[in-house]
Amino acid sequence: MEQSRKEFFKKSVLGLGVITAACESAAKGSQQIQKPLVISTWDHGKLANEVSWKMLKEGKSSLDAVEAGVMIVESDPEARTVGLGGYPDRDGFVTLDASIMDHDSRCGSVAFLQHIENPIAVARKVMEETPHVMLVGEGALQFALEQGFEKINLLTEKSKKDWEKWLEKSKYEPVINIENHDTIGMLAIDNDGRISGSCTTSGASYKMHGRVGDSPIIGAGLFIDGEIGGAVATGLGEEMIRTASAAMIVEQMRHGADPQEACDEIVDRIIRKNGGKDVPQAAFIAVDKYGNYGGGSVHKGFTYAICTNEIENTIKKAKFKLTS
Ligand code: GLY
Repeated sequence: MEQSRKEFFKKSVLGLGVITAACESAAKGSQQIQKPLVISTWDHGKLANEVSWKMLKEGKSSLDAVEAGVMIVESDPEARTVGLGGYPDRDGFVTLDASIMDHDSRCGSVAFLQHIENPIAVARKVMEETPHVMLVGEGALQFALEQGFEKINLLTEKSKKDWEKWLEKSKYEPVINIENHDTIGMLAIDNDGRISGSCTTSGASYKMHGRVGDSPIIGAGLFIDGEIGGAVATGLGEEMIRTASAAMIVEQMRHGADPQEACDEIVDRIIRKNGGKDVPQAAFIAVDKYGNYGGGSVHKGFTYAICTNEIENTIKKAKFKLTS
C-alpha cells in the first residue's frame, strides 16, 4: 500500500517535471535570441554597424564590436558631433564624452576629454585598466597619454570656421540636432548572447566650457543589464541626466515592457517633465536580451540603423511623439 502511494507520487512528480520542461522549451522557443544583432543611433550608425556586424559574424565579442563600430564615426571629420571634427564649445575647445558597458555591468567612461580621437577606446581602458568607472578632463587626458594614445588637434578648419561664424552673435544656446545626427550610441548582441553598449559624442555644440552631457554618465546615456537588455540615448543630455533615462528604460523592460514600450514611456516622461512645451529632442534605442528592439524620440527626425540575420543593415525612422 505504502509502496504504491510512493509510486503514485513519483509518477506525478515526474509527470509535472515533463510538463514543466515542455512549457519551458515552448517559452524558449518563442523567445529565441536574435543573434548577432547591432543597432546604432542616427544615419551614421549604418557605417558603424557595418564594421561591428562583420566582427560579430566572425565571432568577436559584442564589447569589441561596440567599441570598433563607433570609432569609425569618432575618426570621421565629417561627423560633426562626435570625435575628430566635432563642433567645439563656446570657447573653441572640442571636448569629448564617451562610455562603454558590458553584460556583466563592467563599465568605463571619460568626460570633458580633449585632444584624443577615440574617447571610446579610452573609456574601455578606464574600465579594464583602472579600479574606477569614470575619468574626466586633465586626468582623463593624462591617463590616455599614459596608455599610449596620441595627442592631436580635434578642431578641424571646418568646425573652426563654423565656430567663428557662431561667435559673431555668440548666442548662448546649445545646439542639438533633431533630424540629422548627434551622439552615436550602439548596442550589440554577440553569438554567445552577450549584450554590450557604447556611446560617444562631442556634446552640445557651443556648450559652456566644462559642460558634460549624458553620454559618459552610466544610467543616463547608456545602461546595460545582461539579465534584461540595454539602452542608449541621444539628444540634449541634460534631459537624460534628469531622468536617468537609459537605466529607466532597462527597468521598464525588467518589469515587462518591450523595448519600444520602454522607450515610449521615457519619451513621455521627458515630455511631461517639460510641461509638454518647448521640449528638447531626446531619443533612445533599446534592445532586450532576446534581441527585440525599439527606438523612440520626442521629435520627428530621429533615425537608427539596425542589422540582424534577417534585416540587412537598414536605417529606420523612429516613432516620435511631438509634431512641433
Ligand atoms: N547627448 C549628447 C549630449 O547632450 O552631450
